[in-house]
Amino acid sequence: MNSQLQQTAAYIRAEFERDTTGHDWWHIYRVWQLARKIALQEKADLEIVELAALLHDLDDWKLSPASGGEPLRAAAWLRQIGVAPAESDQILDIIRRVSFKGAGVADDMPSLEGQIVQDADRLDAIGAIGISRAFAYGGSKGRSLYDPAEAPILHSGFAEYQSSRGNTINHFYEKLLLLKARLHTQSARQIAGRRHVFMEEFLAHFFEEWDARDAQ
Ligand code: ADP
Ligand code: NI
Repeated sequence: MNSQLQQTAAYIRAEFERDTTGHDWWHIYRVWQLARKIALQEKADLEIVELAALLHDLDDWKLSPASGGEPLRAAAWLRQIGVAPAESDQILDIIRRVSFKGAGVADDMPSLEGQIVQDADRLDAIGAIGISRAFAYGGSKGRSLYDPAEAPILHSGFAEYQSSRGNTINHFYEKLLLLKARLHTQSARQIAGRRHVFMEEFLAHFFEEWDARDAQ
């Protein structure tokens, strides 16, 4: 591993070690490793993919609301470790675009490297790990598990999605079940199949248990 990657991994590990919102170091680590694997399969630029994966949540609006979505800390870090401006610009462009912005907001990720990072991030938001992370995030933000009186909302704008306060089961319909169809690479689509089915099974069980009170 080159030293810029090694330094970045150590920096990010220290920054995210104590997170309990589902964005802990191991989320970043899984996205990094998955993105690396997909990048090898898709023959993308590894350096760009790995640095963007490691830095993708450092300035995330959910974790650092003051950043306003601008990756200022990532930019400062890339400067500090001596990444060339052209390369740094590519990485920062990926970070700005990577987040999900609502069911009705189309993804805009032009580079293959960015598509790979976004796919890896989304694979970590679905399946067994995705389910765990959704409830960890929901709990950390004071959201209830479920409320049958609240219907899911397919947000048509980023601001509306950002300010939503819905319960975590609704989040599956508002985002998690939509991710499989929005993946960019064949490699990611292959991994997503089982994870998607497992979420559907989880939801079927959840509602079966919820409705068990009605049993005679
Ligand atoms: P993105 O930037 O695309 O949202 P992240 O890496 O920040 O991706 O991961 C988002 C994580 O936070 C996911 O695991 C997702 O389930 C969780 N999350 C985001 N919004 C909610 C919400 N409203 N309710 C529950 N979990 C949420
Ligand atoms: Ni992430």
